[in-house]
Amino acid sequence: MDAILRPGRPEDANACGVICYEAFKAIANQHNFPPDFPSREVAVDLLSMLLAHPGFYAVVAETEGRIVGSNVLDERSTIAGIGPITVDPGVQNSGIGRRLMEALLDRAAQRRFPGVRLVQAAYHNRSLSVYAKLGCTIREPLALMQGAPLRASIQGYAIRQATEQDLAACNRVCTHIHGHDRSGELLDAITQATAMVVEHDGRITGYATAVGFFAHAVGESNEELKALIGAASAYLGPGFLLPTRNTELFRWCLEQGLRVGQVMTLMSIGLYNEPAGACLPSILY
Ligand SMILES: CC(C)(COP(=O)(O)OP(=O)(O)OC[C@H]1O[C@@H](n2cnc3c(N)ncnc32)[C@H](O)[C@@H]1OP(=O)(O)O)[C@@H](O)C(=O)NCCC(=O)NCCS
Repeated sequence: MDAILRPGRPEDANACGVICYEAFKAIANQHNFPPDFPSREVAVDLLSMLLAHPGFYAVVAETEGRIVGSNVLDERSTIAGIGPITVDPGVQNSGIGRRLMEALLDRAAQRRFPGVRLVQAAYHNRSLSVYAKLGCTIREPLALMQGAPLRASIQGYAIRQATEQDLAACNRVCTHIHGHDRSGELLDAITQATAMVVEHDGRITGYATAVGFFAHAVGESNEELKALIGAASAYLGPGFLLPTRNTELFRWCLEQGLRVGQVMTLMSIGLYNEPAGACLPSILY
């Protein structure tokens, strides 16, 4: 199908948000899963934020002057994150998704990002195939963990709200675990007062931008992540993403009564380091 691609603008938020809601709902319904977004309004709010934020670059596809899909690149940190990508269910499977992906991979290459990451729903055969064909490597199976906040503490691992003074120490932990920092996202979370740090033996050994779908966390060991998960007052969005190869932490969450909502896949192109510690990725990567 002939589609014209152009950069996304804040005024596209309504059209892109509605497609985002409908596209995720359609594929979730086919597999008997709840929709990723609880309502059109939530999807429109997310797209409004992404299209207005200077740290994100969006591309939209139009046919006959009508928006039929969009994709977003998170450019806030060293590694770029892709998503959400959505195509109007009425015109899916006609090459638009591939072009929306290629446009952002080109952009990431032009901007010299050393790597790009994304997270896909494991039940979605088409997105798995498109991403793999475009060069993405499968890195990590993830479980979306859901449930009531645990309100548990871990002895020796104190949690407090993060401040800008913690940025350098947090970036050091992230660099130790991922090989790069995620400073842009962390700074946003500190500004929004959702970020938490873990202190152990008198120093910062982990942090979370929040515990939730759009948030990431790192810790030198699983104890930091248990403390962060235990202290969170809510799991923002539909839950938080946990690498299931970290069987000890996965089992601990299950023993605490948390449940698996769905399985997802972390994929990447370019620079990717096997984590040298415990981490919870964000849906944006
Ligand atoms: C995922 C999505 C963006 C893809 O966009 P699209 O326009 O439907 O996909 P395209 O037509 O560009 O690509 C389809 C490709 O997948 C291939 N494909 C589709 N189903 C496949 C399968 N089961 N096995 C192997 N390949 C498959 C097609 O052959 C085609 O390959 P080609 O590009 O080499 O010809 C779109 O389907 C969508 O919005 N889905 C709902 C929301 C969603 O899941 N977003 C992704 C979140 S991770």
